[in-house]
Amino acid sequence: MSADIFEKIQANRGPIGQHAKESHGYFTFPKLEGPIGPHMIFRGKTRLNWSLNNYLGLADHPEVRKVDGEAAAEFGLGSPMGARMMSGNSDYHEQLERELSAFVNKESTILCNFGYQAVVSAIDCLVDRHDVIVYDAESHACILDGVRLHMGKRFVFKHNDLEDCEKQLQRATKLAAETGGAILVITEGVFGMRGDQGIIKEIVDLKQKYNFRLFVDDAHGIGTLGATGGGTGEEQGCQDGIDIYFGTFAKSFALIGGFISSDEQVVEYLRYNMRSQIFAKAMPLPLVIGALKRLELMRNHPEYKAKLWEITEALQKGLTDAGFEIGPTNSCVTPVYLNGSIPESTNLIYDLRENYNVFCSMVVYPVVPKGMIILRLIPTATHTLEDVRYTIECFSKIVGKLKAGEYVSEKIAVV
Ligand SMILES: Cc1ncc(COP(=O)(O)O)c(C=O)c1O
Repeated sequence: MSADIFEKIQANRGPIGQHAKESHGYFTFPKLEGPIGPHMIFRGKTRLNWSLNNYLGLADHPEVRKVDGEAAAEFGLGSPMGARMMSGNSDYHEQLERELSAFVNKESTILCNFGYQAVVSAIDCLVDRHDVIVYDAESHACILDGVRLHMGKRFVFKHNDLEDCEKQLQRATKLAAETGGAILVITEGVFGMRGDQGIIKEIVDLKQKYNFRLFVDDAHGIGTLGATGGGTGEEQGCQDGIDIYFGTFAKSFALIGGFISSDEQVVEYLRYNMRSQIFAKAMPLPLVIGALKRLELMRNHPEYKAKLWEITEALQKGLTDAGFEIGPTNSCVTPVYLNGSIPESTNLIYDLRENYNVFCSMVVYPVVPKGMIILRLIPTATHTLEDVRYTIECFSKIVGKLKAGEYVSEKIAVV
């Protein structure tokens, strides 16, 4: 007799889902309330919050809130109806695409209603079964899912390992010559867990030896890196070498949605072939108008990015000086690496939240190897140097307790 799907999922809840009963509402699905910023309410108390990708502090910016509200009042949340191709296009959508193209220094841009979907769908749309994908092993889930849709061959290279990337390119080149296909290399501008920038410049340089196109997911780079906030390509001086550039609105823009920028003819191809956009409703006008406002603020207020980096540098230097391991980050993402079991990490986080009022995200196995805990801090332009000082002081205390074995337990903390 065949198995029953409901029985199967009852028996195997998944690596995180298996802890759902104890963790839900606290370690997973916590509710942060109040205006978005560095001080938010968690379980009735104000906590110092380091867990949101609100890099430039735009989420609760008064001008942003005003424009968001006015656009929603004028157009409603449903407008326009239908997919862009059929009935959901507008001047605002096209204006935002033009302004984004200028911002990231590309010819053309297509707006996408969700960042994740955009990446999956763009990869699916760009390659056919004769083509070969070469991608970084630590790529975000949306890249992996895009690669999973690919019917042809794919070769993965060790994370940020140029030598291995070249080796996989050699294999891909040989194979593509046999199939008559092309090669797409995919990596990230900034890897969101460790915070290390992708080796974009080095990969671009490989174009002198190999024939391929480069797709970069710059979710964490847009708005935070580069002289004008244009992202990791601008930061590394190789934006021209990125053939297909993806940015999300979910982080620096503090919105939802994303975009893909490239040559005019590539974007036109995406517009007419990308299934997630052809067969789905257009981005609502309040979001489009809200994104235009955020982009204007990003362009006109370089001091937001400067402040973000002031906080980032103070945080990263302060943590390092205090003896913490923060790994190879060269972006705003600030991971603190500790050793401990999952139950220990939950006791530590509980202590940090309840007794020190500091809220940050925790990353454990299976995202990182067993025995490793990452406390992940996301600085923003709205944090203060006092927030940094207080956090490092608290971290020193909780790590002392971790090392003294005070958090050891058999089971995860019951809240
Ligand atoms: C590297 C990376 N790519 C893509 C995404 C997906 O973007 P979105 O949240 O806009 O769907 C994220 C966001 O979590 C991300 O970190």
